[in-house]
Amino acid sequence: MRRRSLTVLMALSLLFVSACGDKPDLEGPVDEDLTVIGMCQVGAESDWRVANSESMKAIFTEENGYHLLFDDARQKQENQITAIRKFIQQQVDYIVLMPISEAGWDSVLQEAKEAGIPVILVDRRVDVEDQSLYAAHVGSDFLREGQRAATWIEQAFQEAEKPVRIIHIQGTLGSTAQLGRTAALEEALAAHENWELLVRLDGDFTQAKTYEVMTQYLSSLPGRGEIDVVYCENDNIAFGALQALEEQGYTCGRQGVNIITFDATRGALTECLNGRISLAVECNPLLGPLVEEVIQTMEAGRTPEKHHYVEEQIFTTENLSAALLERRNY
Ligand code: AHR
Repeated sequence: MRRRSLTVLMALSLLFVSACGDKPDLEGPVDEDLTVIGMCQVGAESDWRVANSESMKAIFTEENGYHLLFDDARQKQENQITAIRKFIQQQVDYIVLMPISEAGWDSVLQEAKEAGIPVILVDRRVDVEDQSLYAAHVGSDFLREGQRAATWIEQAFQEAEKPVRIIHIQGTLGSTAQLGRTAALEEALAAHENWELLVRLDGDFTQAKTYEVMTQYLSSLPGRGEIDVVYCENDNIAFGALQALEEQGYTCGRQGVNIITFDATRGALTECLNGRISLAVECNPLLGPLVEEVIQTMEAGRTPEKHHYVEEQIFTTENLSAALLERRNY
C-alpha cells in the first residue's frame, strides 16, 4: 500500500503546515514502512471528542507502524474538506474522517476515491448516494441510543397521571448523533399522548452554548416551570443544562427535573452516581482499536465489513459504583 513519494509527501506537508497554521510532526523523515493516516477530527467540543482523539492518537503511533497526520477542524465542515484535499495531495494511505454533519461530502469523497485513497468514517456517517465513496464506518447506533433513553422515560413515568413535560436540547444540527437521538425522541413523543414537548433548543454539543440558551429559556418563563425531563443530546449539554437549572432554583434528579444524557463520560457518571443526572446512555468514544482492525483488514487485501457498531450500555444510580467510576478511562 506504500505508494507515496516521501519527498513529495514531506514537501506538501510543509505547505499544509504553513497553509493552516497546524504543525503535523513531519520534521524528521517518514519511514517508508509506516502507514500514513490522514485524520480529520471534528474539533474538541466535548469530553467525548477529546477521549475519541486520544484513543486514535494512542493507537496510530510509529511504534504500531503508523504516521498520523491529525487535523482538528474546529467544528467547521469547510476545514474538514480542506484537510481531505491536502491529504489527497500528500498521497496518504488512508483517510479517517469523523464527519461533522451528514450532508455535503459527495465531491470531496469522489476526489479521494479517484486518488485511490480509502476513506474510513468514524463516529458519524455521511449521506451520499454512492456507498462506495467510503470503505467502512465505525461508530455508534445513535437511534438505538435514543430509543433506550425513551424506554427509560416510559418506565419512569408509567404511573404518571399528569403530562410528562420534556425539554429537548439538541447537538450539532445535521450530525448523525443529533439526527438519531432526535428521531428516537420524536418517535416516542408521537407514541405517547401524555408526553409534552415544552421547547427544543440548540446546544451544539457544548456546555457554554447550552448554559446560554437554557438560561434564556428558563428566564423567559413567567414563574418556576413544571419540567419533568431534560433530554440532553450529550454530556456537555447536560452539564450546561444542570448549571442553568440549579442556578434558577430547580432541583435535578429523580425527585425533581430528570436529566437524561448521552456519552456517559466520567463527569456525567459522577453526577449520575450523585443523583443529579437520572440516566446516562453510553456512547463509546474508544474507537481507535476498531479503526485499526479495519485498516489491518484492508492491508491484508481483504474487504472490511461496511458498518461496525460498538457495544454500549446505560447507567443509572442503581448500577453505578465508585469502583466503576475509578475504572472508567474517559
Ligand atoms: O458524534 C458523537 C457525539 O459528538 C457525542 O455524543 C458528543 O459528545 C460529540 O461531540
